[in-house]
Amino acid sequence: MRIAHLSDLHLCSNFKKSNIAKIKGLIEHALENGAQHFVFTGDISDNAEEKELIQFRDLLQSFSLLHSEKSSIVIGNHDIFGGPQTAQDVLNFPFKCLNVSYKEKVMRFAGHFHELFENTIRPHEEVFFPFIKELKNIVLVGLNSIDEYSRFKNPFASNGRISKANRNIIRSYLTRPKFNDKVKIVLIHHHFYQKSEISTSSENTLWNKIESYTMKLRGKKKLLNLFSENNVKLVLHGHSHEMREYFRKKIRFVNAGACTEEKQASYFMIDAFPFDISVNLHKLDLKEEVLVGNEGSITSIAV
Ligand SMILES: [Fe+2]
Repeated sequence: MRIAHLSDLHLCSNFKKSNIAKIKGLIEHALENGAQHFVFTGDISDNAEEKELIQFRDLLQSFSLLHSEKSSIVIGNHDIFGGPQTAQDVLNFPFKCLNVSYKEKVMRFAGHFHELFENTIRPHEEVFFPFIKELKNIVLVGLNSIDEYSRFKNPFASNGRISKANRNIIRSYLTRPKFNDKVKIVLIHHHFYQKSEISTSSENTLWNKIESYTMKLRGKKKLLNLFSENNVKLVLHGHSHEMREYFRKKIRFVNAGACTEEKQASYFMIDAFPFDISVNLHKLDLKEEVLVGNEGSITSIAV
């Protein structure tokens, strides 16, 4: 199966106007190049606002991608807590986070894309994560890695956590005999970098520095062991804003977190077969009208 992987779209009609055109261009390019399924690993919106989630829903619909067999999505920290967009926002951010209803935000996010959760196995009809979705020769396991806000444990709302209860659910999915011969792929927002590796965040330099120190995934080691013991072949994620491929415990990790960064737009195209996985980075150069946020097209392509 040919999968296009995009992450960290950070749609924002006030401060990042060009991102929607970049994503549109990437989807067009991926479809022209035979993508059969699209994976979006969180931070769809920059500031957890409904209008951007609706905008993205409309975009998927315009490409006939608002179907479970065509697209899969997981949530990012910006989809729940947003992020500071001005200097004033940085000061107010902890107070804003304290007033966020975590459960409601997750439900609203999933509600906007409810079609993508059809035909998935989930703990309960009203609970959207973790889910498992079977598509031809692959299974996708979608996780919510976003930790709840805490002044002490998650002061910048960018840390992640997978609870023991959710690890048990993931185990129960991955050990089902009917998935034994499928390519097991995990979708998650947070990265699995080692301590020495520096992660990168949004363009705001002050926030960049703060978030970079606080992007940890609690329970990462246990999760990694769980993936390894159950023959997970590939983990698709974002969160840190770069396009990167790496290995942990012989599992291939792909970070598509820089889809909308700088003057380029990028995505990964992945061909997943039982005995062979290939990953190709596509970087698209953008026309000036796209960069300023007007309707425009993407022309030259460097792979
Ligand atoms: Fe993120």
